[in-house]
Amino acid sequence: MIETDVLILGSGSAGLFFALEVAARTKLRITIVTKKERYESNTNYAQGGIASVLNATDSLDSHIQDTIVAGAGLCNLGAVETLVNEGPDRIRDLMKLGAKFTREKSGKLHLGKEGGHSANRIIHSHDLTGKEVERALLHAISKHKNIKILEDHFAIELLTDHQRLDHKKKVHHKPRCYGAYVLNERSEKVEIISANVAVMLATGGCGQVYLHTTNPMIATGDGIAMAYRAGAKIANMEFIQFHPTALYGEVAKSFLISEAVRGAGGILKNLDGDRFMKRYDRERLELAPRDIVARAIDAELKKHGHPYVLLDISHLRPSKVKKEFPNIYSHCKELGIDITKEAIPVVPAAHYSCGGVVTDLNGKTNIDSLYACGEVAMTGVHGANRLASNSLLESLVFSKRAAEDLATSSKATSKHRQIRLQEWDESGTENAEEWVVIEHDWREIQHLMWDYVGIVRSTYRLKRAKLRLDLIVKEIESYYRKTRVTMPLLELRNMAMTAQLVVRSALLRKESRGLHYTTDYPKTNPKLATKNTIIHKND
Ligand code: FAD
Ligand code: SIN
Repeated sequence: MIETDVLILGSGSAGLFFALEVAARTKLRITIVTKKERYESNTNYAQGGIASVLNATDSLDSHIQDTIVAGAGLCNLGAVETLVNEGPDRIRDLMKLGAKFTREKSGKLHLGKEGGHSANRIIHSHDLTGKEVERALLHAISKHKNIKILEDHFAIELLTDHQRLDHKKKVHHKPRCYGAYVLNERSEKVEIISANVAVMLATGGCGQVYLHTTNPMIATGDGIAMAYRAGAKIANMEFIQFHPTALYGEVAKSFLISEAVRGAGGILKNLDGDRFMKRYDRERLELAPRDIVARAIDAELKKHGHPYVLLDISHLRPSKVKKEFPNIYSHCKELGIDITKEAIPVVPAAHYSCGGVVTDLNGKTNIDSLYACGEVAMTGVHGANRLASNSLLESLVFSKRAAEDLATSSKATSKHRQIRLQEWDESGTENAEEWVVIEHDWREIQHLMWDYVGIVRSTYRLKRAKLRLDLIVKEIESYYRKTRVTMPLLELRNMAMTAQLVVRSALLRKESRGLHYTTDYPKTNPKLATKNTIIHKND
């Protein structure tokens, strides 16, 4: 058993910033567990930037308003105000930690524009913002002797009262989290990591549940599934955001073409040369919120039977394109597309989970000592559709608040009684031999989510998806119980459960709102404007 004070699951922006903020306030021992290399995360691939009001001609009210409009009436106003009002200070924190953002010749920060924003307010590091944020945070962490990072460690399950050996089962109190079972992928052993003070769930999103996604392989919904199994409340999983513009093609692997490309003047056309956005959002055109642009592209593809639409930026100065989008330019060039001369073939792809583990404005979940931050959490900020570049900001704002909450709680200073926890039991299990089973189920989940639970949904398709997923989950659970755990099996188990949560949530929402569009209820129902779709294991 490994003992620590604060256990953080995940090394993206939420987990790393939380670690630094706790270390700045306490002397607690902090352990970060991450399933691959420390930098591998959605954060590392973020392109466009971080939205925040840092310009005298912009206003906090305008950022609040834009966030609420994009969220289609479902945002929690308090959460949005917190996000926007505290945002500028978090950007300054990042810069103090050494993050370098793109500047004008005058030395002022260069502020980009993205869909749904009524002002230029995207702070960025060319089109590699996430890499720079991750670099700066990891560098700062390397200087803290109280923070330890364990790479190739996969969190399997949160430890709660069920795994406490001395737990008096009849006493009803708020459930508590004591740590996690973690697979050390190097030794292939499952370890208990017990956390005396708190656990932070910062495991990111679940894009891999879909066939086409901008997310890296780590995004398999592990945190959502773990939290659900442990009894945490999960909300709004029907709101999966599809980014309108991922690069089309077999080898392109849904590489993201940043919204900042449209912000800089990129134009969308179908293969007949028609600038179709004028028919879907006459005023905002290509810079309408993502749900509108993604649905418009989907409709064009279905109407014309075309495999992709075109995003054209070739009318801009080539030097500007190369300077602002060096990563996108060189990636496309490698695949034979010169974006300074020709249009880019694009399609929508699953990008972001607006729902997740329900938290308050300090990152606290309904399980005592369990915090959640970043993409895995549902703070109420995004409502039914996230505004572009509000995600990195959310991870910073709320992880700092969680660190402040933890540092001032009595648990951070009081003496801790050793808790006896159940060892991982692998008796009766055998080594996985049926690799084909895992691979097949993985592909089946991705295909059925793409075909039945995509941009446009219907009750019939959702019910078909539910029937199949219920069976897949049952089969995987039975396979899991008799098989020695491996990372692919654990990821598959979590993906299946997360996909099931998306479908269950989608079936519960009997209206179309933001990212959830169903042909059976094509209109927004004003009576559901404040209704989050909450799912809890005991319901
Ligand atoms: P992540 O950064 O995904 O980190 C999760 C961490 O948890 C990883 O280290 C992962 O390995 C680890 N982990 C997961 N499961 C386990 C487990 N079982 N055990 C141990 N470790 C685990 N947002 C913006 O605001 N602006 C942008 O410009 C932007 N661009 C984007 C571009 C792309 C291509 C993508 C994919 C996303 C983009 N986003 C952007 C969204 C944003 O990057 C993410 O929402 C945000 O970075 C999430 O941060 P996080 O810390 O919550 O999760
Ligand atoms: C992008 O660069 O388009 C991604 C921005 C985001 O996901 O917020």
